[in-house]
Amino acid sequence: MAKKRLIKQQLVVLKTFVFIACLMPFMFIIWETVFNQLGADPIQTLHFRTGDWALRFLFITLSMTLLQRFFHSPIPMRFRRMLGLFAFFYASLHVLVWLVLDQSLSMENMIKDVPQSPYIMVGLLAYFMLIPLAVTSTSGMMRLLGHSWFTLHKMIYPVALLGVLHFFWLTKLDYSEPFIYLAILLVLLAFRVALTRRGSSVKQRV
Ligand code: HEM
Repeated sequence: MAKKRLIKQQLVVLKTFVFIACLMPFMFIIWETVFNQLGADPIQTLHFRTGDWALRFLFITLSMTLLQRFFHSPIPMRFRRMLGLFAFFYASLHVLVWLVLDQSLSMENMIKDVPQSPYIMVGLLAYFMLIPLAVTSTSGMMRLLGHSWFTLHKMIYPVALLGVLHFFWLTKLDYSEPFIYLAILLVLLAFRVALTRRGSSVKQRV
């Protein structure tokens, strides 16, 4: 009993630490903005910073399953929800920068711009797909949706793929970064497929 309580306390400390660590990029962006450190094109820098962190958090969230299997520990899965919500948080900041600073909240500007930019359309699609995942991330929703919750949350893979496609489409010269993301995503996908196959073959044997 006492051991269980200690583990619970340690988990709370670890979760607080991870939460603060996940907020650091945001704090750094605020610091750069307040102290005028965003360079010659501040809006573009804000796009890059928020977009990079949204994609990084999506990938960190995806890799939790792999870590769980690798270390035979349930702990990484305890952080998946928080990390996924941080991916949504940075993606929302990214969209806000576009809506407020690029488009000045003008519907007219958006109607003109969006059809001309396929990478924006892909980004918007990824973001819209991320919304139901964030909304249904609570334990209550998990219970309510039952097995469909797992099916719905597998959508994080197509979201990550669209995020990478968005990155490829907006890149003009050096494609190395989006290629690295694509390679990592393929490894994570292969791992996911292997896990599903192993799961279904175990079920068949039972
Ligand atoms: C889950 C959704 C999204 C992810 C993961 C994402 C990710 C990214 C990444 C990684 C970059 C490049 C950063 C760099 O070069 O260092 C980027 C840039 C950008 N994104 Fe997104 N994005 C998403 C959604 C969106 C949406 C919905 C919009 C607009 C409606 C958008 C607009 C932009 C713009 C304008 C840039 C900068 C392009 C440039 O100046 O070259 N993104 N995004």
